[in-house]
Amino acid sequence: TRRRALALASAVTLTLSTPVWAQAPIVIKFSHVVAQDTPKGKAADFFAKRAAELTKGRVKVEVYANSALYKDKEEMEALQLGAVQMLAPSLAKFGPLGVKEFELFDLPFIFDDYNELHKVTQGPVGKALLAKLEPKGIKGLAYWDNGFKSFSANTPLRSVADYKGKKFRIQSSKVLEEQVRALGGIPQVMAFSEVYQALQTGVVDGTENPISNFYTQKMHEVQKHLSLTNHGYLGYAVIVNKKFWDGLPADIRSELEQAMKEATDYANRIAKEENDKALEAVKASGKTTVYTPTAQERLALKKALAPVHLKMADRAGKDTLQSVYQVTG
Ligand code: LMR
Repeated sequence: TRRRALALASAVTLTLSTPVWAQAPIVIKFSHVVAQDTPKGKAADFFAKRAAELTKGRVKVEVYANSALYKDKEEMEALQLGAVQMLAPSLAKFGPLGVKEFELFDLPFIFDDYNELHKVTQGPVGKALLAKLEPKGIKGLAYWDNGFKSFSANTPLRSVADYKGKKFRIQSSKVLEEQVRALGGIPQVMAFSEVYQALQTGVVDGTENPISNFYTQKMHEVQKHLSLTNHGYLGYAVIVNKKFWDGLPADIRSELEQAMKEATDYANRIAKEENDKALEAVKASGKTTVYTPTAQERLALKKALAPVHLKMADRAGKDTLQSVYQVTG
C-alpha cells in the first residue's frame, strides 16, 4: 500500500541521514552479585555513569546488582556466551573456568595490606595474570579492590580449635577449600546469593567475607560472632567478552578504557573506607559480637594456615608465586 511504501521510504531516509550510532546506544550489560552499596556495586555504577558521559550517550551500561540477572557460575557462562558483556567476579572464582592462577590471591596472609596487594595487581604480575583469560574468550580490564576477609560463625572463633568440625561456606576456590581444611573445618562451595539463607537455616555454620559483603547481605542478622581475622584478601577482576570488546569502534573503546581507569581509581579509593563503615554498622547493629583476635591468636591462625601455601603452590604456579613473594617481600 501507499502508506507502507511511504513509511518504508521515510525509514530509509532516516537510516541514511542519521549516523548509525545515534539510532540506538551500544548496550553493555554488567552483571554482579553484591549489593549496590559496596565497593564493587558503587564502582560499577560509577563506570556506567562515566561511560555514558564520555561516549556522549553512545554507550549505555546497564548494571544488574545482587545476582538479579545471574548467580556466580551462571554469570561466567553468560559472559562467554555473550549474554552479558561485563562482569567483576571475585578472583576466587576463576578456577572452574580453568584459570587457576588467580587463586594465589586466596592464599592465607599473602598480603599484609592494600599496599602489598597493589604491588601485584598494579604491576607486571597482575597484567600477566589477566592475559591468561584471553584463550577463554575473556579480556581482563582491571583489578578492583574489596578488602580483607574475616571469619564468622554462631560460636566464638578465637583459637584454631574453635574452627574444628564447623562447616564454612567458601567461594569456588581450591585454595580456600584447603584453607578451611587446614583449620579442621569443612568447606562448602556455594553461590554468594545463597549464603544468607544457608547461614540462617544452618546448612553451613559460618563463612568468610570482607565486612562490606557481610553487612550488606545482612549476614550479621544470622551470625552471632565475627572475628576480625583479616586472614585473606577478596578482590575482583573486571572482565569483558573479548569478541565484543575487540569489535567496538576504536574511539568508543578508548573512551570506555578511560571510564574504566577512572572507575578503578574510584573503587580502590573507596574500598577500605566502605569496609570500615560496614564494620561500624555491624557493631552498631548489636546483633553480632565483634572480636579482635590477640596477636597470639592471630599468629596461631597464621601458623595453622602456613602449610596451605606449600600445598597449593601448584595451583598458583610456582613461578608466579615466586614473583608475588618477591614483590610483597
Ligand atoms: C563471595 O562470593 O563471597 C564474593 O565473591 C562476593 C563478591 O562478589 O564480593
